[in-house]
Amino acid sequence: MSKTIIKISNVYKKFSKNKFNVLQNINYKFSIGKSYSIVGPSGSGKSTLLNIISMIDKPTKGNIFINNKKINFKENSINDITRASKIGIIYQDFNLLNDFTAFENILIARLSIENDIHKASKLTNRMLSKVKILKRKNHFPSELSGGEAQRIAICRAIVNSPQIILADEPTGSLDKKNSKEIFKLLLNTKNKNRVLIFATHNMYFANLADYKLQIIDGKLKSSNARIRKK
Ligand SMILES: Nc1ncnc2c1ncn2[C@@H]1O[C@H](COP(=O)(O)OP(=O)(O)O)[C@@H](O)[C@H]1O
Ligand SMILES: [Mg+2]
Repeated sequence: MSKTIIKISNVYKKFSKNKFNVLQNINYKFSIGKSYSIVGPSGSGKSTLLNIISMIDKPTKGNIFINNKKINFKENSINDITRASKIGIIYQDFNLLNDFTAFENILIARLSIENDIHKASKLTNRMLSKVKILKRKNHFPSELSGGEAQRIAICRAIVNSPQIILADEPTGSLDKKNSKEIFKLLLNTKNKNRVLIFATHNMYFANLADYKLQIIDGKLKSSNARIRKK
């Protein structure tokens, strides 16, 4: 039996401006060591669901459990610490800090959980060389291509060795060649102690996940799992 890392329980989300529930009674368990893709048309609630899992947004009703611990969405500072140490997030538009270099963007993320600059620098350099972008370390985000910026964002997402990686249309702003490379890196971040959840419009990439989830009319449906050898 695989171990549940995230449990979503009777989650509803309604934005005050909308009359309808964007998410409607979502129940799902994510297992550690697995990858999940979330598909669905634009506006179907993929980002909303990821933002609730990352505690950036809160459900209107229902609960999220991480490692069996119920999230209290009012405890912002505790949730900020949990997010920094346990969750790595990758966005479509990279969300790098523009006034900091590639190196500093990763370093700052590391320092947010442990104030050890020597260790943080070492880890950052290791990350940068892993994704073969060490030569861009002193470049600012504006000096990076989309593919390079997303590599930096991946480094930032994994520098704290999080248990959870969330990616929201990580290749939505990239060309085909870069998209393939980024997905290769992203899928490689998965390990037996980690869950990877990504939203995408691209069916080819969606099918590379162990499980494919679909949001239809606010409901989460598990569609075909990847056919796996074993
Ligand atoms: N902050 C917000 N305020 C009001 N409505 C929102 C907000 N964020 C998202 N929505 C609405 O929720 C729905 C789902 O949006 P979203 O989760 O971004 O979809 P997706 O990521 O699948 O494209 C859309 O109808 C969108 O307009
Ligand atoms: Mg979205």
